[in-house]
Amino acid sequence: MSTAINPDDLKRQAALAALEYIKPGMIVGVGTGSTVNHFIDGLATIKHTIEGAVSSSNASTERLRKYGITVFNLNEVSEIPVYVDGADETNQYLQLIKGGGGALTREKIIAHLAKTFVCIADESKLVPMLGKFPLPIEVIPMARSMIARELVKLGGNPVYRDDFVTDNGNQILDVHNLEIMEPAKLEAQLNNLPGIVTVGIFAIRPADVLILAGKDGVRKIGE
Ligand code: A5P
Repeated sequence: MSTAINPDDLKRQAALAALEYIKPGMIVGVGTGSTVNHFIDGLATIKHTIEGAVSSSNASTERLRKYGITVFNLNEVSEIPVYVDGADETNQYLQLIKGGGGALTREKIIAHLAKTFVCIADESKLVPMLGKFPLPIEVIPMARSMIARELVKLGGNPVYRDDFVTDNGNQILDVHNLEIMEPAKLEAQLNNLPGIVTVGIFAIRPADVLILAGKDGVRKIGE
């Protein structure tokens, strides 16, 4: 008799495998989401060995502080050796779609600063081509409709994320129906549109390591 795999167990396995990248005295970059919540729970077990964390969202900050882990303002920190975060989709090149939880802007800032970006996910997130997961884009509220029209011209179907305000006070468009064949090119193109704060494609700065948990165990890509 085969036992059903609980997706949350897979997220936990991937998250705990990332602890091997955490070394004594580090300030650890911490992402956002249900997979990262398991990572924070694991980090709490070794909290006396690290100096603290920088966080990509108010939600992760709250969880870190609840465990007594010091959370630094990013402006106080000049380097982040390791950043651990989840993803909504990843391709084999470790280019990602992120922002399902709306934290993409701070996530991208920390990813940019990090020396090593470790992505943690269950194997359902690995896809041949990015774009099935609606692409989150954080926008300045007054530019929302203008940007939505531009996205329609690109073949997308942008949907306003109702009743959601980002930690930065902005709004999110979730763009359906995009087949993202050249992720870095589309990311750069959208980065040029005024009013877009952050595009949820992480391809110009992809992850360095992907830890994937699946029915056959945990494997690493990119190492
Ligand atoms: C948060 O804005 C996202 O980028 C998350 O990293 C992503 O949505 C993964 O979330 P889960 O770990 O909850 O699947």
